[in-house]
Amino acid sequence: MLRLFFRVFTSLQTERNLKAAAVHRNFCSAASLPASVCSGFAVKTIMEPKLYRPPPEVRGMTSLDKEAFTQTITVPALRVPTGVLNKVVKSLRKATIQRPGVPRVVQDKEESSDFRLVLLDPHRGSSPSFFSEAEADALRSFSVAEELQYYELRLTYHNLKSEEVLEAVLPQGQDVTSGFSRVGHIAHMNLRDHQLPYKNLIGQVIMDKNPGVTCVVNKTNTIDSTYRNFKMEVLAGEENMVAKVKENGVTYEFDFSRVYWNPRLSTEHQRVVQLVKRGDTVFDVFAGVGPFAIPAARSGANVLANDLNPESHRWLQHNCKLNKVEKKVRTFNLDGRAFIQGPVKQELPVLLKGKASVHVVMNLPALALEFLDAFRGLLHQETSCDENLPMVHCYGFSKDDNPETDVVERASRCLGFPLKEQCSVHFVRNVAPNKDMMCVSFTLPKEVLFSADYEQTEPSVEPAPKRQKCEEATDST
Ligand SMILES: C[S@@+](CC[C@H](N)C(=O)[O-])C[C@H]1O[C@@H](n2cnc3c(N)ncnc32)[C@H](O)[C@@H]1O
Repeated sequence: MLRLFFRVFTSLQTERNLKAAAVHRNFCSAASLPASVCSGFAVKTIMEPKLYRPPPEVRGMTSLDKEAFTQTITVPALRVPTGVLNKVVKSLRKATIQRPGVPRVVQDKEESSDFRLVLLDPHRGSSPSFFSEAEADALRSFSVAEELQYYELRLTYHNLKSEEVLEAVLPQGQDVTSGFSRVGHIAHMNLRDHQLPYKNLIGQVIMDKNPGVTCVVNKTNTIDSTYRNFKMEVLAGEENMVAKVKENGVTYEFDFSRVYWNPRLSTEHQRVVQLVKRGDTVFDVFAGVGPFAIPAARSGANVLANDLNPESHRWLQHNCKLNKVEKKVRTFNLDGRAFIQGPVKQELPVLLKGKASVHVVMNLPALALEFLDAFRGLLHQETSCDENLPMVHCYGFSKDDNPETDVVERASRCLGFPLKEQCSVHFVRNVAPNKDMMCVSFTLPKEVLFSADYEQTEPSVEPAPKRQKCEEATDST
């Protein structure tokens, strides 16, 4: 099998010759390369760091032609008796060739069963010796001569890394970054304008080079303003958008094109869920498909989880069943404000008199701070209790130079109560240059919850709980 792909050319050339070793491409074109390049060895030194650069003819390709990436390169090799082969390969671990799909050991020219060729890293310097002192000692101890040989190695598309392929295809000097988020079998890209003419080729390369990825999509607009999901276009692979992912040991299934899912929030989900104890109650106002609600229920909490998007609500219910917590989670398909002023309002009076903690999670960072005014005057004084007020974890984006202060001030304005000194702020992640996602956590002040003059509005962040239109204070992100 190997012989189909590799041809061996041992030579009498010594280590000294290797300094002038060559890249011999199958696709030498007189137009793009000097004549000397096509005529054999001594084209590029073996030190050339881009030894594996694919042929220049592939530049500008928009439909993937894998054959066009084939090239033959010359690499150094060492002829080793089979009796000491394993020991030699072990001792030369750092000196051998490292390439996806390329074997380190091949048949030698004579196909003798007594010898093999060990392929070496062509990027290795050769001065004063190709081998380090320790490697040279090891070779001596196995009585293997340091005499290097040439081996002509046929490299194909399959031996190249995705960056190497894309760097060769996309316009020179432009960013070829091919980063993506992985959501189950889906690779989710955010291509720049100059990459769009190559979008299907990029999709195919990402799929080929990442085992398990069977669908590549590109985000085609900014995040949808209501349900926080993206419009997306399939670049390569199957059209199946129903993904299955595991986060912090919990399995979720959902239609990635119709709900919100962000693999970068797993640490934040875990951080908040760790605050929840058995017997606690969690109100998840913007629950999505359940990454706070379901692990909290698995920890033994009673959960009320809500999402306005009917698709999210459907997958939330599905995931509760999938994780066998449907008895611990009550789901709702309401606007967040209606959820606070409905189910939350109904449940709170009893919970305030209890001992177990109550958490309210509000992860809709573009808008959640604005929903805080829904807590103003939510309950009547007679149900008042100092001991067991709910803990709110409310998320917000900030573009301010001081995001901590910014989100606390905005939360305070919406609550009509100064939170400063009475809250903690957690930096979640940087979502864009100069835009941070923050989480403000605080015990809901009883002055807010039992505010008597809730309907009388006047802007203030002073303790007197007067209502301000908090929209005025919110970020437009
Ligand atoms: C940023 S996602 C967070 C989802 C989930 N908590 C997570 O961490 O992955 C916000 C969620 O809020 C939902 N949503 C948007 N507007 C809403 C509203 N007015 N009321 C309730 N849910 C809303 C969206 O459908 C989306 O699922």
